[in-house]
Amino acid sequence: MAEVTRFQTRDRFVAAAVEAIVDEWHRCARQNHAFTLVLSGGATPRPVYEVLAKRLLKGGVQWQGTHVFFSDERMLPAGHPQRNETMARESLLDRIPLPEENVHPVPVAATPEESATLYEQEIGAAFGSPPCFDLVLLGMGPDGHTASLFPDSPALMEGNRWAVAVPAPEMKPRVPRVTLTLPVLNASSRVLFLVSQQGKESALERVLHSESCPGLPAACVSAPRTNWYIDASPE
Ligand code: 6PG
Repeated sequence: MAEVTRFQTRDRFVAAAVEAIVDEWHRCARQNHAFTLVLSGGATPRPVYEVLAKRLLKGGVQWQGTHVFFSDERMLPAGHPQRNETMARESLLDRIPLPEENVHPVPVAATPEESATLYEQEIGAAFGSPPCFDLVLLGMGPDGHTASLFPDSPALMEGNRWAVAVPAPEMKPRVPRVTLTLPVLNASSRVLFLVSQQGKESALERVLHSESCPGLPAACVSAPRTNWYIDASPE
């Protein structure tokens, strides 16, 4: 059962998210295994990543044994301001001494399908077997999408692939995407949804009462540990 926590200020939301991420990082270090983290895109995580970068520079984390992936990516050129990778590099990855070979963005390729295949190869090379990410960060849109799994998308029915290409959605940027699939998300040790409540109240109400899939992709995510951190501040 998902655990839901609402925060009345953005600062408390950000601080709690940072501590949850660092706790997982330390848990992996105690268990002496690599920490595999999936970053979500959109706007909500940016302040979390900025504070996380400062927190990590205080020390106490293993860089070599850490690998960072992405929940999904917009099919835009490397460095494009609307790529999720660009936001993550600006707010976090360019501010910490994580080796570049430990950062695994969705590759830019000739077609979205090729990008998805290359990304699966990258995931396979890191895990050597079906992936089990230690911590997956996810957002949710006003329509209940998460990553780039949009309502009623055929991608929601994907049972084997780890990553797939999806056509351009209605929301901006209207470009094709590559997204991790539900089997991968649900095989993760822990999923942490980071959601800014404004404009999403209706979807949140439906999701948190587990309205069925495929109309509400975020409700289809159920990892062994699934937490919802909701920024309920009025900002
Ligand atoms: C993307 C994200 C997407 C995002 C939600 C919420 O590529 O846009 O992966 O799933 O998490 O749309 O976005 P906000 O945090 O900006 O509301």
